[in-house]
Amino acid sequence: MVFVADYRSDTITKPCADMRKAMMEAEVGDDVFGDDPTVKKLEETVAAMLKKEASLFVPSGTMSNLIAVMAHCQGRGEEALLGDKSHIMIYEQGGIAQFAGVNPRTVANKPDGTFDLEEAESKIRMEDIHFPRTRLILVENTHNQAGGKILPIEFLQKVRVLADKHKLMAHLDGARLWNAVVAMETTPDTIAQYFDSISVCLSKGLGAPVGSCLVGSREFVERGRRHRKALGGGMRQSGILAAAGLVALEKGLPRLKIDHANAKLLAKGICDGKFSSYTCDVVSTETNMVYLMMSTGVSAMLVYKILDVVLEGEEEELGQGIQVRVCPINQACIRMVVNLHITPESIEMTLKKLAFVDRLIVSGEAANHLPNKENYKTFSDIKNPKKDRWGAKL
Ligand SMILES: Cc1ncc(COP(=O)(O)O)c(C=O)c1O
Repeated sequence: MVFVADYRSDTITKPCADMRKAMMEAEVGDDVFGDDPTVKKLEETVAAMLKKEASLFVPSGTMSNLIAVMAHCQGRGEEALLGDKSHIMIYEQGGIAQFAGVNPRTVANKPDGTFDLEEAESKIRMEDIHFPRTRLILVENTHNQAGGKILPIEFLQKVRVLADKHKLMAHLDGARLWNAVVAMETTPDTIAQYFDSISVCLSKGLGAPVGSCLVGSREFVERGRRHRKALGGGMRQSGILAAAGLVALEKGLPRLKIDHANAKLLAKGICDGKFSSYTCDVVSTETNMVYLMMSTGVSAMLVYKILDVVLEGEEEELGQGIQVRVCPINQACIRMVVNLHITPESIEMTLKKLAFVDRLIVSGEAANHLPNKENYKTFSDIKNPKKDRWGAKL
């Protein structure tokens, strides 16, 4: 028997029995014709939670962010300001340039996911025939590349002031807004109030199989509805999916605090383990992400590979029969996302495997435990270990 602890993302979560039942029983209609009552209920529920006029059910967070940019930037030659380590900038294939024709202008993200507002202001264009027109500021909360950090409310307030001063729109990529809300013990509108639009995901920590909602004014959402259709995101009997989203909000949202407690437990276990090869920061573990930081000279790719390998046997202390699935972010860091399938037992097993891998690395035997050394080489080459994901030299 193999024990699997899967931390690759909170998107790996599978729908629970209640969700499957709700999906089976959902009342549906053709949502492109506006006939699906379950989609309408979900859209109204999410809009009410964020205290905005309306919301739009879309297939993914990526499409939701893209539609937001398209609905805010209505002319040609327009520009959006965004963090250089934001999901929209790095992981959405440059969709805002590729499909929306909007120029992305980056501001350096700080380790806490915020950015310098003076730098942002300095990048807002003055009216000049040579320049694009700045229309939009994009913010991400919680911030994925900052290890699931919650952006301080004061920062959000200042973003609003800046946006108003320059007559810009502000959009929040709130794929994990729910995690921020639960960790801060607040309500979603506390964060949403500073933004003209917000994208929230149902398919991450909340555990729904598919879907995001784009929230904002009625007029904005109606513009977004047209863009959704053009992008191929007009869904038909999507009440089946919306039904899962409603269960996710009812059951998945309150249980996020369990993920946060488990993330702390894992982070503390890693610190208490006093491993030579890696460590992490318990204080920075604010929501459901744990960043495993490699010691100098330790390859995140190698650690990732051995954590993944299932060693034969039943000796847990020797890491046998335990598979720990993670995502290397760059050569120095591994991201572990705690999700609803991770239990205190998963964490106990993970710590055993981490302790074993640490001993292997210290003794210089790690690479010998890979099933095929060539695989490791190839993988490293593909990932270009001389540079991190943002092209910086390691
Ligand atoms: C911060 C953030 N925004 C947007 C997305 C995109 O969501 P999706 O995978 O549903 O397209 C993700 C996905 O992980 C994310 O982490």
